[in-house]
Amino acid sequence: MAALRCLCMLVLVSLCLGETPTVPPKYVVDLDLTEEQRWTHVVKDYPELPEMIQTVIKKYVPDDLVSMVEQIGSAIDDYLPSPYAGEIRGIAKALNMTLGEAVIPNILYDLTSFCTSIVAQDLSGNIWHARNLDYSFTDMLRNITIIVDFQRQGKIVYSGVTYAGYVGLLSVQKPGAFTITADERDKGAWWMNLLIGIFDKQAKPMSFLVRDTTEQAEDFQSAVRQLSYTVTEASVYYIIGGVKKGEGAVITKERLSALDTWYIDSTVGRWFVLETNYDHWVTPPTSDDRRDPGIKAMNAMGNKTITVNSLFKVLSTQPVLNPTTTYSVVMSAGQPDLLTAWVRHLAH
Ligand SMILES: *[C@@H]1O[C@H](CO)[C@@H](O)[C@H](O)[C@H]1NC(C)=O
Ligand SMILES: *[C@@H]1O[C@H](CO)[C@@H](O)[C@H](O)[C@H]1NC(C)=O
Ligand SMILES: *[C@@H]1O[C@H](CO)[C@@H](O)[C@H](O)[C@H]1NC(C)=O
Repeated sequence: MAALRCLCMLVLVSLCLGETPTVPPKYVVDLDLTEEQRWTHVVKDYPELPEMIQTVIKKYVPDDLVSMVEQIGSAIDDYLPSPYAGEIRGIAKALNMTLGEAVIPNILYDLTSFCTSIVAQDLSGNIWHARNLDYSFTDMLRNITIIVDFQRQGKIVYSGVTYAGYVGLLSVQKPGAFTITADERDKGAWWMNLLIGIFDKQAKPMSFLVRDTTEQAEDFQSAVRQLSYTVTEASVYYIIGGVKKGEGAVITKERLSALDTWYIDSTVGRWFVLETNYDHWVTPPTSDDRRDPGIKAMNAMGNKTITVNSLFKVLSTQPVLNPTTTYSVVMSAGQPDLLTAWVRHLAH
């Protein structure tokens, strides 16, 4: 009976939205295994990955760069830090790909990725975090979207929503501590970022910094510090939610450090902050304004009772939801069991 009601709800919701979200598969990545072993069981479920990666490389990466990346692939440990080099080596082995092929999608900061991230505080002081990840290659990425519980000694250390074959993180929850998402800040040519990613050992790919911070930081404030003061290969927005009142912020980060940190602040009525892909003090272009519709949907929802479903509705407002949206996530580090992700299927 309950299942039937659930099904009806799902049908109703999808009728309303003209779109039926699906549930991404869930995996455990055991951090007690060697780096090379950690992802084997995951990528073996995606034998189509090498062909997908080839398609992306052919379309977007100039031949010269490919051969260069192939060459450094063999010296991956010199170019990429642990655990990423080892994990990528394991993925390449499991799928019989060259190291270069496995490296490229992991350091390719962004062809055209647009996103929306929101951190909100409800009247009881719970912190919520919601995001859509929009990307080119939408159909491909929808097919490889997964939820991963990273575990040590059988316990979840953090959970990410990600793509099979990708070892950095763009959406993550550390239970009882914080949640982080990364949105693209479009500065610089993507191939420049690729080169910086390879050759500047001081500069981390921004998705590696998300995972490193999640591993190392104990709480919201230390995570904000680590995200703000670590050199990244590109400029980026980090959106972060904590577990206590006031713990929510958008960090506008340049390569070297944070340019601006924008906190939720209920004393001035700012119970949420919403970031798409433009500096929050700048008006978004009319050709891509997902910010104002998002803000409107948040204000319509209000802060009295925030739930997974109410945030899902905000994330389903068009054009916050659009044909390039690959997945949606709602998280709350203080209520970690609520983490829910959906693969989105709005047609072009
Ligand atoms: C792995 O790839 C190489 C080169 O593309 C090929 O010669 C070999 O047969 C492949 N091995 C397997 C097990 O698919
Ligand atoms: C995604 O998966 C579906 C179902 O398996 C398949 O029909 C489709 O071709 C896949 N799309 C891409 C771009 O790989
Ligand atoms: C709830 O929202 C109102 C505006 O609608 C705001 O003034 C108030 O500060 C918010 N409360 C909290 C706890 O954030």
